[in-house]
Amino acid sequence: MEQNGLGSKMRAGILGTGSALPNKVLTNQDLEKIVDTSDEWIVSRTGIRERRIAGATEATSDYALLAGQRALASAGIQAEDLDMIMVATVTPDMMFPSTASLVQDRLGATHAAAFDLEAACSGFMYGEFLASGLVNSGQCKYVLVIAGDLLSRITDYEDRSTCVLFGDGAGAAVVGLVPKERGFLAFHLGSDGAGGKFLYMPGGGSRLPASQESVQSRQHFLKMEGQETFKYAVRAMGVSVERVLSDAHLEMTDVDLLVPHQANVRIIEAIRQRLHLDPAKVMYTIEKYGNTSASSIPIALDEAVREGKVMQGQVALMVGFGAGMTWGAVLVRM
Ligand code: ACO
Repeated sequence: MEQNGLGSKMRAGILGTGSALPNKVLTNQDLEKIVDTSDEWIVSRTGIRERRIAGATEATSDYALLAGQRALASAGIQAEDLDMIMVATVTPDMMFPSTASLVQDRLGATHAAAFDLEAACSGFMYGEFLASGLVNSGQCKYVLVIAGDLLSRITDYEDRSTCVLFGDGAGAAVVGLVPKERGFLAFHLGSDGAGGKFLYMPGGGSRLPASQESVQSRQHFLKMEGQETFKYAVRAMGVSVERVLSDAHLEMTDVDLLVPHQANVRIIEAIRQRLHLDPAKVMYTIEKYGNTSASSIPIALDEAVREGKVMQGQVALMVGFGAGMTWGAVLVRM
């Protein structure tokens, strides 16, 4: 139920988007010099040709800040107007304070509360869901949802099965009230902790704090069972898409652009074929950025907006999955 005091005229929606990527490019040819791999293998198995890598002195908050500033500019909102900042990340600058608090300070968002949320690559979906609830309930007027990850920081560049996949970046959206004809139409979120063993980073938490041994045995790097993750992704994203469409009483033909998590072009193609979608209605950034974790969807959405691939009044369907396992879809009229 909406309690924003505006009756049925307004509801939560996306007011503006932004993104930020490092300038440094790591190509498949560069990786050929580091591990036993080939451009041919990486392109045919993943669709990735290059990814962006942050500089040694940079951190997630640097890109989260830039993406947030760009989203605010595109929404025409001042930082002081924000009530809440969320940063979805698995690579915070440090364990605490939260990356969102660091961003809040540097943005000058003096009236905003701030916290990080951790739902791995589904983090942006979880953030949009929360922001929509806060805005529709009238508890917040403007919420900045940022997803930022420097996965290069937890990638093992001696493990060829994972190091070819990941890149760095951040994306953001400002959520506030929009006329009722637009805005969020449906959400679906899911989680299955039993799948946690397929994608995780063992070291650095309370279970295995950092020690000489943990560093030497490479426990502070991401570990993944690729094929299991692949199967989860296709299944979970398919379910989420079907659920949001049915909840919003829409068909796939009503969707103008699918913005899927960019983990592997074969996963995106499996979803696209299952939904009988024309490739022109799907956003692909995987070739140039690889898998940027939680940021991949807001980066792709921001590019789609800037390139005119989704216009005001059109329907975008975002869908993602990630460690946890977690997954989710957001259906929104821009
Ligand atoms: N270069 C060359 N060969 C490689 C490489 C590489 N970079 N990596 C693995 N291989 C080899 C393997 O050793 C194996 O060799 P073998 O047959 O001699 O044992 C062979 O290639 C096939 O390996 P598979 O793991 O079966 O390859 P697959 O086709 O499954 O592709 C991949 C692997 C790309 C990881 C795929 O499983 C995948 O994309 N899974 C999903 C990953 C994902 O979505 N992760 C992110 C989810 S959440 C998040 O975004 C953080």
